[in-house]
Amino acid sequence: MTGLEFTRHEHPSPATAEARAAVLQAPGFGVHFTDHMVAIDYDAGTGWHDAVVTPYAPFPMDPAAMVLHYGQAIFEGLKVYRQPDGSLASFRPGANAERLQSSAARLAMPALPVELFRESIEQLLAVDHEWVPVAGGEDALYLRPFMFATEAGLGVRPSSSYRYLLIASPAGAYFPRGVKPVSVWLSTEYVRAAPGGTGAAKFAGNYAASLLAQAQAADQGCDQVVWLDALERRYVEEMGGMNLFFVFGSGPDARLVTPSLSGSLLPGITRDSLLALATDAGFAVEERKISTDEWQKKAESGEITEVFACGTAAVITPVGSVKSAEGDFRIGTGEPGEVTMALRDTLTGIQRGTFADTHGWMSTL
Ligand code: PLP
Ligand code: COI
Repeated sequence: MTGLEFTRHEHPSPATAEARAAVLQAPGFGVHFTDHMVAIDYDAGTGWHDAVVTPYAPFPMDPAAMVLHYGQAIFEGLKVYRQPDGSLASFRPGANAERLQSSAARLAMPALPVELFRESIEQLLAVDHEWVPVAGGEDALYLRPFMFATEAGLGVRPSSSYRYLLIASPAGAYFPRGVKPVSVWLSTEYVRAAPGGTGAAKFAGNYAASLLAQAQAADQGCDQVVWLDALERRYVEEMGGMNLFFVFGSGPDARLVTPSLSGSLLPGITRDSLLALATDAGFAVEERKISTDEWQKKAESGEITEVFACGTAAVITPVGSVKSAEGDFRIGTGEPGEVTMALRDTLTGIQRGTFADTHGWMSTL
């Protein structure tokens, strides 16, 4: 219980069963939205108030709303999975609630209580549960909680009022080619985040700052950009919306390396979960710095056998080839690797209720 009562305004004309079925047949990523959303407002005087479940719709904003000028905007991403018995469960929602709080702290925004975050999900799913794709496939309902500054004013200071919204979007594969390996471009010209900056927060501006380099990657014929550290432009940080893992060796002796949390990369919940699952599976895991030189040399010598990206939207996606100003190289055979696919099966099995949830990560709705 959060002490806040939610008011529910049901949609007068929600999508018909036929329209919903047409969307769920091929949901894409982030293009269709469910019938409702949750909104909760915050004012410095009253705190969080006016929690509502309301039809998904545009809303008016003051042209001087501070988010439009100085960019206080943060978000989260998590999924709700239909279980084999038809029930619904989300993956580690408490971890997303806590990360929203730490993003808020970095952006001088108020913390949304963890219980209110959880309740917003329960309230939305109570009305929009039919939008969760069927069990057994790759699809899920992607939840996008976010928060932004609403005070009207042009003085540069933290806003005194905010709005939290939760919207939901049925989602298929983030990469249209599914689990086929992606190609990446090493960005040495642009950086995503610097020490002391906002890289560890899920802050909208980080994504705005990434778009030009992402366009450069596309011009180079690559799917994604890989960010390097801001100071030396040598150490691998992460991708646009995913963390990275490197597999050394193969079979039961394989070791996994992922860049340590430098303060300028996002502490992914999938990353954290895979560190645990890889350990469970008997692999050695290491969080440390890894340079682009090491990556290239050891991929070319065959010591690095697999590389994969991981995140809520992308799940686990193999990286097959690398391009940079310094030259190109491939990883392994160019096909999804064994360790990558074994970890992917374990993670998605837990999320979809076909593997035992030994860590207690699933939260029934
Ligand atoms: N890195 C960035 C920049 C992201 O946007 C995301 C996606 O949320 C991730 C990593 C992976 O985080 P998570 O596993 O919590 O989805
Ligand atoms: C996620 O995986 O939830 C993300 O936020 C990545 C991307 C869609 C921004």
